[in-house]
Amino acid sequence: MGRRYSIGVIRGDGVGPELMDVTLRILNEVGFYADFIEVNAGYDFYRKSGKVLEDGGIEILRRVDAVLKGPLTTPLDMPGFRSINVMLRRELGLYANVRPFKSFNGVSLKNLNIVLIRENTEDLYVGIEGIHSGVSVALKLISENACERIVRFALNYAYMYGFKKVTAVHKSNVLRVTDGLFREVFHRLVRGYEDLEFNEVLVDAAAYQLIKNPEKFEVIVTENLYGDILADLIAGLVGSLGLCGSAEIGDSHALFEPVHGSAPDIAGKGVANPIGQITSAKLMLEYLGRKYSDLNLMKIANALGNAITQVVEEGHVLTPELGGNSSTVDVANEILTKTVITLHG
Ligand code: NAI
Repeated sequence: MGRRYSIGVIRGDGVGPELMDVTLRILNEVGFYADFIEVNAGYDFYRKSGKVLEDGGIEILRRVDAVLKGPLTTPLDMPGFRSINVMLRRELGLYANVRPFKSFNGVSLKNLNIVLIRENTEDLYVGIEGIHSGVSVALKLISENACERIVRFALNYAYMYGFKKVTAVHKSNVLRVTDGLFREVFHRLVRGYEDLEFNEVLVDAAAYQLIKNPEKFEVIVTENLYGDILADLIAGLVGSLGLCGSAEIGDSHALFEPVHGSAPDIAGKGVANPIGQITSAKLMLEYLGRKYSDLNLMKIANALGNAITQVVEEGHVLTPELGGNSSTVDVANEILTKTVITLHG
């Protein structure tokens, strides 16, 4: 038996718990040897306890090998309620938000294989805002250190995963100083990577080109807000937010979660697509597999990835947002069956 991992689990709000249930069942049944340590957090927990995260929760999340998280609600009508996601990213130093998007034959609107790498700690998301005499302002914070860290991460990622091209997305024609700094760092750092091709696209043009010709993009590196918006745009091209997973990586910690939110409109109905959450678990296995040279985990992650592709492309067992009539549990069972067949014949 290989290494036993410890995984922090935040089940999430809305569709989170139903998606986490099936994901943990898959992880258990495919032979991922781990202790799952649940940490209470989120809006539902806040309503019961008055706290957004259980006491000592951050310390637990710092001790585990990785965190698997469901989506968390940030209520719009409670201005004092700060995003727990933003807090977790800051507390765990998760500066790189990595979102791999790959199209599915017969389902996706376009052919694409794009990894969006988004700076995860700064920009307008530092949440420093104020209002005086009817004038509101928000601070857009862009530091040289954070730009260097994220650009270097994206370049190394492209190199390590065999991508040929890295595109910087910004708006430095208007935001001369903040986005100008991001741009300057990008141009400075790419000089050390002769094997890669580089370009830059303004964020508005990037939105247009992503719709028209997504095949022109491979790795995109961008700031926090632009990355947040473009990720949903690319998820739309893939076919559904429910198909996409993400990794949030720092120097010492890593957290994995679906790209989508808590989807209150379909919560509790058993119809949410579990693939985004299961894909996040797959990204976690790949991360741990690489970090600990655990070939068994890499094998499970591969089998899981292939099973997801097969299930989506066969099109027999799909949730309603993809035109199917299967449930969350049906889709998860189908993925599990196919994964087990690949692993054990
Ligand atoms: P959302 O991503 O929850 O939903 C947008 C649309 O996509 C809805 O129509 C929803 O039904 C659909 N959708 C989302 N996930 C799906 C799935 N797995 N299967 C099928 N359809 C799915 O975005 P929304 O409605 O803007 O946000 C809801 C809440 O989630 C908000 O409180 C927001 O702050 C939070 N949120 C949390 C995130 C996180 O925890 N990382 C990320 C994004 C939003």
